[in-house]
Amino acid sequence: MATIMVTGGAGFIGSNFILRYLGEHPDDTVVNYDALTYAGNLENLAAVKDDPHYRFVKGDICDGQLVSRTLAENDVSMIVHFAAESHVDRSITGPDAFIKTNIEGTFRLLEAARANKKIERFLHVSTDEVYGSLGATGYFTEETPFAPNSPYSASKASSDMLVRSYFHTYHMPVLTTNCSNNYGPYHFPEKLIPLMIINALSNKKLPVYGDGKNVRDWLYVRDHCTAIDIVLHKGTPGETYNIGGNNEKMNIDIVKTVLKLLGKSEDLIEYVKDRPGHDRRYAIDASKIQRTLGWSPAYTFERGIKETVDWYLANRAWWEKIISGDYRRYYETQYKQ
Ligand code: NAD
Ligand code: DAU
Repeated sequence: MATIMVTGGAGFIGSNFILRYLGEHPDDTVVNYDALTYAGNLENLAAVKDDPHYRFVKGDICDGQLVSRTLAENDVSMIVHFAAESHVDRSITGPDAFIKTNIEGTFRLLEAARANKKIERFLHVSTDEVYGSLGATGYFTEETPFAPNSPYSASKASSDMLVRSYFHTYHMPVLTTNCSNNYGPYHFPEKLIPLMIINALSNKKLPVYGDGKNVRDWLYVRDHCTAIDIVLHKGTPGETYNIGGNNEKMNIDIVKTVLKLLGKSEDLIEYVKDRPGHDRRYAIDASKIQRTLGWSPAYTFERGIKETVDWYLANRAWWEKIISGDYRRYYETQYKQ
């Protein structure tokens, strides 16, 4: 019968988390606290909008007073913190919002939670990008030193450090997760996999940065949501948990897989200028969460990517609305053809 506040619940992972959470915990209540930036979309939550166990509050995490009021008025006992600026390319062209939301916003949220006194768990959702870039071998463990290379990953690393300090200084019951690249339904079409699906469906070029051989570890979003749920309820406060799919792929192979599933030609691939500071390889050692909390991914990549492509085929209205709205201006300046 707990009430949890989810920040950034209208985004990609947050909305997948809420949809799953309400199904798995029908007696709990979820308060979705989200500023509805370009990345927030309440249509993702259409299936639960009338659920008596779901509430939406439009608010910025930098607004400490509104956060405090929302925690108190809803008798919140757990916070799952997804809200962030999340796109590396945007952090390169405009870092300000990343510093504001990811660092100051996390700080305001921590302060509101500290003052509240009723918060039993504060789960901070972070990324493997805080660890920097790997060479051809090796894995990120929870002990790998932070070495962020983009304004995005530097802002996330800063927020991880703040969260850590609230455990050691104020004994706040915080938990941090560092996850690899997610993919699945409701993924905003600026990110690699949905962008490639949508461009291929529109017979547009598929822009691959650099030589296409950068490696990411891909995890189906539902598996990430399951892991967060387990860490929230069973994790040890003060600990961090790496989450990954043990599924390393070169970008070019992801793009070719998408084209194959859609029956499209590889002639659509276009190698373009590399991302500045482009991390070469990420790979996660997820043995701690597997060993201590019993989590491992349920989806194979083959199943996850097929379901993802099918979702974009079945939900054209969802992404057509996005790419024909305000987002179009950004999209057109990034990917002029
Ligand atoms: P997203 O960009 O899809 O969604 C972010 C959400 O946060 C949006 O709903 C947006 O409206 C909201 N938001 C942004 N600024 C806000 C503010 N100041 N106040 C309140 N709400 C605000 O992001 P995502 O891909 O779902 O990522 C969610 C979290 O998971 C982020 O913290 C990200 O760093 C982390 N993460 C993402 C991935 C991934 O592959 N996408 C992997 C590991 C970790
Ligand atoms: O690793 C976890 C991170 O994964 C999260 O913390 C971030 O929030 C999330 O956006 C994601 O970051 P990436 O930069 O890895 O994701 P993106 O989809 O932007 O890019 C994936 C890879 O594909 C990366 O090597 C860059 C490349 N790429 C991306 C785009 C958008 C291309 O080659 N072409 C593109 O058009």
